[in-house]
Amino acid sequence: WSQSSLSVVVVGASGDLAKKKIFPALFALFYEGLLPPDFQLFGYARSKMTDEEFRDLIGNTLTCRIDARSRCEDSQAAFLSRCFYCPGQYDAPEGYANLDKKCKEQEALTGKMVANRMFFLSIPPNVFVQAAGGAADNCSSPTGWTRVIVEKPFGRDSASSAELGRGLARHLTEDQIYRIDHYLGKELIENLTVLRFSNLVFEPLWSRQYIRNVQVIFSEDFGTEGRGGYFDRYGIIRDVMQNHLLQIVALFAMEPPVSLDGEAIRNEKVKVLQSMSQVALEDVTLGQYRGRSGAGRSGGADLPGYLDDATVPKGSLCPTFAAIALHINNARWDGVPFLLKAGKALHTRGAEIRVQFRHVPGNIFKHKVGPNIDMTTNELVIRIQPRESIYLKINNKVPGLGMRLDTTKLDLVYNDAYSKELPDAYERLLLDVVNGDKRLFIRDDELEQAWNIFTPVLHEIERRKVAPELYPYGSRGPVGAHYLAAKYNVRWGDLTEDEI
Ligand code: BG6
Repeated sequence: WSQSSLSVVVVGASGDLAKKKIFPALFALFYEGLLPPDFQLFGYARSKMTDEEFRDLIGNTLTCRIDARSRCEDSQAAFLSRCFYCPGQYDAPEGYANLDKKCKEQEALTGKMVANRMFFLSIPPNVFVQAAGGAADNCSSPTGWTRVIVEKPFGRDSASSAELGRGLARHLTEDQIYRIDHYLGKELIENLTVLRFSNLVFEPLWSRQYIRNVQVIFSEDFGTEGRGGYFDRYGIIRDVMQNHLLQIVALFAMEPPVSLDGEAIRNEKVKVLQSMSQVALEDVTLGQYRGRSGAGRSGGADLPGYLDDATVPKGSLCPTFAAIALHINNARWDGVPFLLKAGKALHTRGAEIRVQFRHVPGNIFKHKVGPNIDMTTNELVIRIQPRESIYLKINNKVPGLGMRLDTTKLDLVYNDAYSKELPDAYERLLLDVVNGDKRLFIRDDELEQAWNIFTPVLHEIERRKVAPELYPYGSRGPVGAHYLAAKYNVRWGDLTEDEI
C-alpha cells in the first residue's frame, strides 16, 4: 500500500446502485482507514457534471454509522476532495481515454510509482461488454493491477451468460473479473462456513441422516416500484433465486473445503452445484402480486399490482414470486428437499435459512405435549436479515412440578451479543477486491453451473406461457407454495412466527 495509489472508477456513477450502495460503502471503508492513503474516486457516466457537482451528488449519499459518528463526520470533506468526475458514453473508447488522462493526472500527484485501478460497472447489461472493453483497453493501469467488478444480470440463461463471458474474456483475464453477488457479503452468509466448520456440534448433523429439509426464504414487503422495466425481463427466479438463494444453498451444502483459500471454497461450491438436478417444472410454483385497494401502510391508500406499474408490459406473465424444490444428488443430501421461496410485495421483509431436523426416534416424551400437538422437531434458523440472529428450537421441560414440555429457543441475537453495527455487504466485497481476495466472488464455472440448473425450466415456463397465480399485495403469497411444500411433507417456516 505504501508504494501504490488506488483509483476506484464507478462507471454508471449517477445511477441508483452507485448512490445507494457503492459511494456509502467506499466512504465507510475510507473513514475506517481501510483504503490505501492515496485513494481517489472517479465517477464516469453520460450526464455532464463538474467535479464540484459530482461531490455534491456524493455528499448527499453519505451516512454515518452511530458507532462511528465522529470519525465519519470528520472524514467527509477529505473523502469528497478525492472525488472526480469524467463524462462519457459507456460504449465510446474516447470517453475511457479521457478518463485515463484524468486518472493519470491525479495519480501523478500522489507521487506513487504504482497506480492500481478498480472499476465498478454499475450500468445496464446491454452495455456491459462495451464498457468493460472500453475501460480495459483504454484505461487499464499501466503500472499496477486493474480489476473490474461486474454485477448481475449475467445474461438471462446459459447461452446469453456464456456470450457475456466470452465478451468479457476478449478484454479481461478471469483473474481481473470480480462477479459480485451481494448476498455473499452479508454477515450471516459469511458466517455460514464458520458455523459449520469451526463448531463440533453442527457438522456431524449436517446430512440426510439428521436433516429433513432445508428452506431458504426471501421476502420483501414492497413491489417492483419503478424497476418494472428491468424486472419484467428477468422475473424473480433470475432476480434472486438463481443467484442469491442458490449461493446460500451452495455454501450451506458444500463439502468442507481444504482451506479458506478462494479457489478451495469455490471448487467445493462448483461440485455441489454439479450434484444438483435441473429444476423440474412440477417443482415450481409461480405467483404475481395484484393490487389491493385501501390497504396502504399509510392508511387507506391503494397498493398497486405488478401490472399497474407503467413500466411493465400489459398482460405480463412475469413472476414476482416463486417457490421451488431443489435436489442434491450426492451421498450427503440424497432425498433431502431444499425448498426455496422468494417474493415481492409480501406481508413482511426478511431472509432466512431454516433447517428442519428429523424426529427423535422412539421418543419417550411423545405423550408429554398437549393433545393433538405433535412433538416439535428441532429447527435451526439462521436469520440473514433483518435483526440478524441464529437460533435453535429445542424441546424443553416447562419449569415447575409435573412434566410438561414446550418448545423454546437457544438464541444468538447479533444486536444483543455484539455492540457493533454490521457493515453493509458492499463494504466487505469492495474491500475484498482491493485486497484481491476472490473467496466471495462468483467464478466463471460456478456461474455456468448455476445457469445449468435453472435454464431448462426458465425456457419451459416461457415456452408454455405458464400463468402465475395472483396473490394480493401484502399477503403471504400464493397457496401453490403450500402445495409444493406439502408434496415433500414440509411446512414452510414463517419469517414472523418466531419474533425474538
Ligand atoms: C437485488 C435484486 O439483487 O437484491 C432486488 O435485484 C432485491 O430485486 C435485492 O430487492 C435484495 O437485496 P437486499 O440486500 O435488500 O436483501
